[in-house]
Amino acid sequence: MCHAVYQILFWLWMLLYSGSRVSCLQMSNCNKTEVTMIRGMELLTSLTLSNCSLPHLENAFFMRFGHLLHLELQHSGLSSLEDFSLHSLPRLQSLSFAHNSLSKLRSWSSEPLEALVSLDLSHNRLSSLDAHSFVLYPQLQMLDLGSNQINQIADDTFYGLSHLKHLQLNGNRMMLIDGSQFHGLHRLSSLMLQHNLIEGVDPGAFESNTHLRSLRLDGNLLNCLQFLTQSGLARLVHLNLANNLLRKLEPQGFVTNVELQDLDLSRNNFTELTKESLVGLDSLERLNISHNILSHIEDGSLESLASLLQVDASFNQLTSVSESLFHANTQLEEIILSHNRIRDISPKLMQYQTHLRHLKLDGNALIEASFLQRLPPALNRLSLIVDLSSNRLQSVNLNSLLHFGHINLADNHWSCAWLVKNLLLRAPPSLNFARNWSLLSDWSEDLTKVQGIDCIEDARNRSIVLLSIGEVIHSKVQCAKSFDELNPAPPPLTWPKIPTDRFDSRSVIIWMLVAIAITFACLRWLRRFVDRKEQSKRKLKAINEVVS
Ligand SMILES: *[C@@H]1O[C@H](CO)[C@@H](O)[C@H](O)[C@H]1NC(C)=O
Ligand SMILES: *[C@@H]1O[C@H](CO)[C@@H](O)[C@H](O)[C@H]1NC(C)=O
Ligand SMILES: *[C@@H]1O[C@H](CO)[C@@H](O)[C@H](O)[C@H]1NC(C)=O
Ligand SMILES: *[C@@H]1O[C@H](CO)[C@@H](O)[C@H](O)[C@H]1NC(C)=O
Ligand SMILES: *[C@@H]1O[C@H](CO)[C@@H](O)[C@H](O)[C@H]1NC(C)=O
Ligand SMILES: *[C@@H]1O[C@H](CO)[C@@H](O)[C@H](O)[C@H]1NC(C)=O
Repeated sequence: MCHAVYQILFWLWMLLYSGSRVSCLQMSNCNKTEVTMIRGMELLTSLTLSNCSLPHLENAFFMRFGHLLHLELQHSGLSSLEDFSLHSLPRLQSLSFAHNSLSKLRSWSSEPLEALVSLDLSHNRLSSLDAHSFVLYPQLQMLDLGSNQINQIADDTFYGLSHLKHLQLNGNRMMLIDGSQFHGLHRLSSLMLQHNLIEGVDPGAFESNTHLRSLRLDGNLLNCLQFLTQSGLARLVHLNLANNLLRKLEPQGFVTNVELQDLDLSRNNFTELTKESLVGLDSLERLNISHNILSHIEDGSLESLASLLQVDASFNQLTSVSESLFHANTQLEEIILSHNRIRDISPKLMQYQTHLRHLKLDGNALIEASFLQRLPPALNRLSLIVDLSSNRLQSVNLNSLLHFGHINLADNHWSCAWLVKNLLLRAPPSLNFARNWSLLSDWSEDLTKVQGIDCIEDARNRSIVLLSIGEVIHSKVQCAKSFDELNPAPPPLTWPKIPTDRFDSRSVIIWMLVAIAITFACLRWLRRFVDRKEQSKRKLKAINEVVS
């Protein structure tokens, strides 16, 4: 079976080869015999072997593949290579042994692989890396060691990799980053260390990595950030510290990170931001401090962040936001304060936010939305999207909310009286009050999606379900049709099943009133219909009389 596939691929390859000098071969589900029998292997430039059975490679296995530029051998149970299995691949630029069972790393060659730029050893079983592991790969720029079981890296492991730009060590079991592991990687620009067990980073760990732009340390066990002030990290642009055990931001802790644009501090245990916490982050564009236990953001905490575009402080325990918090952040496009306990927003909070596009305040305890009337005049309201759902609003000034891009007002504590008076006819499409409910109907197995609004009166929970316009028309049609005896109308919809809302006698009365109103409408329509018929009959009679 594989043989046939290989034959076809081979002919395809021959075809390709006759046209250009690039010749690729992909094989899967093959075995070693088949690989050694590949015809024209001397001319192949790219070989991809996946899901084959190749647990062991002998010395000089690729001897006759001297033109290979790209070699991938994945998902093939590879667990041992003899010391010189990669012998005679002088042109090889990229090599992947990902998704195998390698537990030892060697250079697998006696001569340097001078052309090798990219090496992927991810998803194997490597547990430790010895000194000088990569000296025979002097041109390496990308090294992926992710998703192994590495817990130990000897001091000079990466010795000689002066061109390395991207190093992935994510998904391993490293516990400590000490002073010399990354020593000498002068060109390193991105280092991925997320999802390890790192508890501490030595203050000199990145001292020689002066080109480091992107550092991921999320998903570790860090509880201290003192290492950030070292000069090696002065040019960082992206820093991810999410999902650690951090509790406190030291004053001036980011003072050297003046080029940082993205800072992710989410999912830690920060309790407050102070004036000194974020000093120095002059270039910061995106700050994520969501999913912490922040209860206080000191006024002036964001003062030095003049380039800030997006701030996410959702899922914290904020009860208020000081009215001048964002005054220095005039470029802000997105403010996310969802799922806190904020009770009110000062009309002055956003008085300088002329670039605002998204404002998310859902899941708070707001009782009024008048701050939306005091946004700066230069702000383009038509491109502003505001989420005020799941708050405690009882009423809003509808006229002041007409010219916004979209405002979500679902799931608030609307007063029934206000709702009935204002809402039914006047709400423009850019305002959403409704939340989705499922309605079970007798004549169809399907759940019908209905949009409804709850409201509260006399401090008691009450619900009003507003059928969408389409369905109201539908029920009128039903009503008119019910005079057709041959074609009885489907039975009416049953009451919606809503777990949290009790239908007390009052809401039943409201429903009855609605039903009576619809019946009246139908009757009037019928009456008019009958009247018109009678009139035309009478006219006909009159004409007949005149004629006779
Ligand atoms: C390799 O596969 C071919 C074709 O499926 C088969 O004929 C051959 O016996 C296999 N060789 C080994 C060593 O399993
Ligand atoms: C190889 O096996 C992996 C995992 O068993 C699977 O996800 C992948 O689709 C397979 N690839 C091919 C080309 O058969
Ligand atoms: C972080 O906060 C969570 C929830 O408040 C708590 O369970 C956990 O013990 C805290 N961890 C540390 C290291 O403080
Ligand atoms: C902030 O971080 C949280 C959790 O890590 C994530 O879910 C959220 O999408 C991030 N916010 C933004 C704006 O990217
Ligand atoms: C309600 O349902 C509509 C259509 O099914 C969907 O577009 C909308 O996003 C839903 N609204 C909410 C709040 O889930
Ligand atoms: C109204 O309903 C909410 C949740 O559905 C409940 O927490 C609250 O106690 C109810 N209030 C009254 C007055 O019944």
